Amino acid sequence: MIVINFLPLVLICVLVCAMPCEDIEPLAFPITDVQILPDNSKSFTKGIPAGVGTPRQNIVFLPWPELNNTWIYDEQPFCDSSIIFNDVICRVRRGNLYSEVNSSSYKKTEDIPSAGGAPVETESKGAESGIGDLLSSSVAVRDRLNIGPVQVAESFPFGVPRLSWDHGYTISHALGLGSNSTLLNTLVRTGQIGSRVWSIFWGRMWVDPEDAMDGSLVLGGYDVQKVIGRNYTQPLDFSDKTGCWTGMKVHISSVKLNLRTGDDVELLPPNTAIDTCIVPQRQLLLEGPQIIIDTFENKTGMFSIGRSFGLHWSSYKYEDVNIFDGDMTISLSSGLDVRIPNSQYLVPFVEVDRSGTRVFNTSQREFLFNTVYDSPSTLGRYFLTGAYLMVDHDAGTFTMWAANPSRESTLVSVVSTNAEANCGNTTAPGPSSNGSDSSIPPSHSSSTSALSAGSIAGIAIGAVAALGIIGVGVYFFYKRRRNHIMEPTTDPVNVPPGEKYVYDGPEQIGRHPAPHELHSDVIRPELAGNQRRPRSIYEM
Ligand SMILES: *[C@@H]1O[C@H](CO)[C@@H](O)[C@H](O)[C@H]1NC(C)=O
Ligand SMILES: *[C@@H]1O[C@H](CO)[C@@H](O)[C@H](O)[C@H]1NC(C)=O
Ligand SMILES: *[C@@H]1O[C@H](CO)[C@@H](O)[C@H](O)[C@H]1NC(C)=O
Ligand SMILES: *[C@@H]1O[C@H](CO)[C@@H](O)[C@H](O)[C@H]1NC(C)=O
Ligand SMILES: *[C@@H]1O[C@H](CO)[C@@H](O)[C@H](O)[C@H]1NC(C)=O
Ligand SMILES: *[C@@H]1O[C@H](CO)[C@@H](O)[C@H](O)[C@H]1NC(C)=O
Ligand SMILES: *[C@@H]1O[C@H](CO)[C@@H](O)[C@H](O)[C@H]1NC(C)=O
Ligand SMILES: *[C@@H]1O[C@H](CO)[C@@H](O)[C@H](O)[C@H]1NC(C)=O
Repeated sequence: MIVINFLPLVLICVLVCAMPCEDIEPLAFPITDVQILPDNSKSFTKGIPAGVGTPRQNIVFLPWPELNNTWIYDEQPFCDSSIIFNDVICRVRRGNLYSEVNSSSYKKTEDIPSAGGAPVETESKGAESGIGDLLSSSVAVRDRLNIGPVQVAESFPFGVPRLSWDHGYTISHALGLGSNSTLLNTLVRTGQIGSRVWSIFWGRMWVDPEDAMDGSLVLGGYDVQKVIGRNYTQPLDFSDKTGCWTGMKVHISSVKLNLRTGDDVELLPPNTAIDTCIVPQRQLLLEGPQIIIDTFENKTGMFSIGRSFGLHWSSYKYEDVNIFDGDMTISLSSGLDVRIPNSQYLVPFVEVDRSGTRVFNTSQREFLFNTVYDSPSTLGRYFLTGAYLMVDHDAGTFTMWAANPSRESTLVSVVSTNAEANCGNTTAPGPSSNGSDSSIPPSHSSSTSALSAGSIAGIAIGAVAALGIIGVGVYFFYKRRRNHIMEPTTDPVNVPPGEKYVYDGPEQIGRHPAPHELHSDVIRPELAGNQRRPRSIYEM
C-alpha cells in the first residue's frame, strides 16, 4: 500500500526534478482576431496576441519562417502610402505599433548580433527582397517580450525596421521562426520548451461565427487533435538549388476542383508537377502558373472582374454570382492530399477602411490565387486551413498531415535526440536566462512516453483574456508593394490622405505605376521584374 501511494510521488519527482526535454510541455498560442484601436471594436487584425516593453504594449505577430530574428515596427511603420493611405489603417494592419520611449525596459544596442540576435538572415532571391538589408539598417533593441501570457524574456533581442523591407501584404510584426530563430533558441535555453520545433494550423475564417475557428501556433511540439492520418516528413533544405528559402520545397502533382456531384476536375495539364515553396505567412492559398487561373475560369464559367487591393492583395475578384461551390484538393507528389474547403479559397472581399474598421463586400468573392511568371510558386497561409505543418529545426525536417479542423487541443512535445543537449539548461548564460523569465512556468505532464500530452486550451484562452485588446470574428492580411524604400517621409502622419488610391477598376490599376517602377530600381536593380510578386497584378 505504501509503495502504491509513494509511486506517483517518486514519478513526479523524477519528471519534474530532472526535467527531461520531452516532459516540458509545448506552448500554444491562438492565431486570432485582435482589436487594435481601443475606440473601434471592428479594427481587427489576425495574428498572435503578444506584448512588448514595460508596461506591456500589446502587439500582434505573424509567424515568419523565412526570418531568424523577430522584427517589431515602431512609430515609423513603413506602410505603403499609395495603398495604405492613412496612419489608422497602417496601425491596424501592422498589429499596433511599439513605442520605445514608453517602455522603461527598452535598451538600444549597437547591432542585432551584439544584442544577442541571429547574425544571418536569408539571402535567397525568392524571399522578401528587403530581408538582406534588415540586419544592417534596423535599430537593434532589447526589451521585454511576451507572447500571449508567456514571458519569453525580460530582455529579448529584436530589430525595429528602418526600411520598407517586405511586400507588405503580410504586414504585421514578424515573429522569426527560421533555422536559427532567436525566439526558439531563447525558449529552449530557458527551459520553456524542449525543442526547436514549431507547428501551425491556420484555422477557418470568413465564415459564420459558429463555423469560424482560430488558428494555432505550437512551440516545442504539435497539436495531435489537429492532424488526420499518416504524416509526410521531408528534410528541410535551405540550399540554393531548391529555390525555396523556407527550406520547405514540395511538388504539386495535382490541383483538382471537387464538384458537388462527386466528380473532380483537374486544373493542371497532364504530367505537370509544380515546384513550390511553402511560405506560411503569405496571404493567399497558392501562387502558381497562369494555366491554373485560365483553366479555373474555363471550368467554372467564372470570369474575374479585376484583382484585389484588399487584404488578399493580388487575388482574383469575382461578382458573387454563380460562384463555384466545390472544394479544391491540392495533391503533393509525396502522396499528401490537402482539401481546401470552398469557404477558405473563395472568400468575400475584405479590407481595412480609413477608420481602421475591417470591412467586407459580400457582393464580391476573391479566389486566393496569384499568377507568377519567373518567381517561385508558393503555398501560403490558406494551404494551412487544410494541412497541418510542423517544422523541426533540431532534426532538420518538416512534417505535414491533412488538418483536422478541431477546437480541441492535445499538445504533444517533440524532441529529437540532438535537442537534448541544450534542453532546460537554465544555468546557461545570457541576459534572458534569469530564472524569473517564465511568468508561466511550463507544467509537466505525467506521461511517461516521449510524447507528453497536455491541454493547451487554458493557455490559449489566457492568451486572449490577458489582452486588453481582444477581438472576435474573422480577418486577414494584406497587400502592399515594397516601394519607397528610401522614402524619407515614412511616418504615416505625413502621408497625404486622399485620392491617390482607389481600390477597384481596371483603369485605376492601369494608372498605378508599374511595380518595377515602384520598387525594383530603388534598392536592387538586379531584381527588377523578377521576384516582385505584385508585378503580375499589372499584367492582366
Ligand atoms: C537563419 O540562420 C541560419 C544560420 O545562420 C541561416 O543559414 C539561414 O539562412 C537563416 N535564415 C533562415 C530563414 O533560416
Ligand atoms: C506613450 O504613452 C502615453 C501615455 O499612455 C501616450 O499618451 C503616448 O501617446 C505614448 N507615446 C507613444 C509614442 O506611443
Ligand atoms: C545563431 O544565432 C546565435 C544568436 O542567437 C548566434 O550566436 C549563432 O552564431 C547563430 N548561428 C549561426 C549558425 O548563424
Ligand atoms: C510520422 O510517421 C512515422 C512513421 O509512421 C512515425 O515513426 C513518426 O513518429 C511520425 N511522426 C510524427 C511526428 O508523428
Ligand atoms: C476553354 O474551353 C473551351 C471550350 O469550352 C476550349 O475550346 C478552350 O480550349 C478552353 N481553354 C482552356 C484554357 O482550357
Ligand atoms: C461591392 O461589390 C459590388 C459588386 O462588385 C459593387 O458593385 C459595389 O460597388 C461594391 N461596394 C463597395 C462599397 O465597394
Ligand atoms: C549548461 O550551459 C552551460 C553554459 O553554457 C554549460 O557549461 C553546461 O555544460 C550546460 N549544461 C548542460 C547540462 O548542458
Ligand atoms: C533576475 O531575477 C531576480 C529574481 O529572481 C530579480 O530580482 C532580478 O531583477 C532579475 N534580473 C534581471 C536582469 O531581470
